[in-house]
Amino acid sequence: MVLGIIAAMEEELQPLLGEMKAETTRTIAHMTFHEGYILNKKVVAVISGIGKVNSAICAQILITTFGATKVINVGVAGGVGDSIAPGDVVIADSLIQHDMNSTAFGYPHGQIPRLSTFDFKCDPELISLAKKAIENSSNFNSFIGTIVTGDEFVANVDKIRWLKDSFNALACEMEGGSIAQACYLNDTPCVVIRSISDNANTGAHMDYEKFKPIAVENSTAILKSIISNI
Ligand code: ADE
Repeated sequence: MVLGIIAAMEEELQPLLGEMKAETTRTIAHMTFHEGYILNKKVVAVISGIGKVNSAICAQILITTFGATKVINVGVAGGVGDSIAPGDVVIADSLIQHDMNSTAFGYPHGQIPRLSTFDFKCDPELISLAKKAIENSSNFNSFIGTIVTGDEFVANVDKIRWLKDSFNALACEMEGGSIAQACYLNDTPCVVIRSISDNANTGAHMDYEKFKPIAVENSTAILKSIISNI
């Protein structure tokens, strides 16, 4: 088993990289892949950069070049679901790319044309490991459901309402759906775990900076628990 871990931004991965033993690094496509061991498990951790293209390329390299057999994406997200607040954690059981629009051809919004799935499902075993990790922490609320992904930092109440009504989404972010698609195309199990940094509304960018440290702390604790039980 080789566990691939992807975060979009350096600050999301830094605490975990500090725990890595026997680390070697290789840079491909401007992304630095850190190979080593955490809690005696083989891990390749990488910062993909922001957005769907970066993160899909990153997942493909993790799988093809580094032999990742499972992929976990962690990071922050905007809260979309009604009772979701900054500091909470959302585990995706499925991901949809909200900016995929071929409705002109009769496809539902989010559907990638000519692909035989609407959403990208996360791996039940990785979901249950994430659930178990969360059961042990009492300092935040957690949710399991759909996360939507698009190349947009959502900071608009009408857009949040649309994401909720169209996809029953709990959270929005900018990488999970494309990572899940790359994993789907490579038959590689994955899960996406996001800590809420803002409510995707007009003040989102300010909340984002304020809540990011706690969000990163939560994701790191969950990741460590998953790695120890995997
Ligand atoms: N990541 C964190 N907050 C976000 C937001 N509001 N929109 C998209 N991605 C995010």
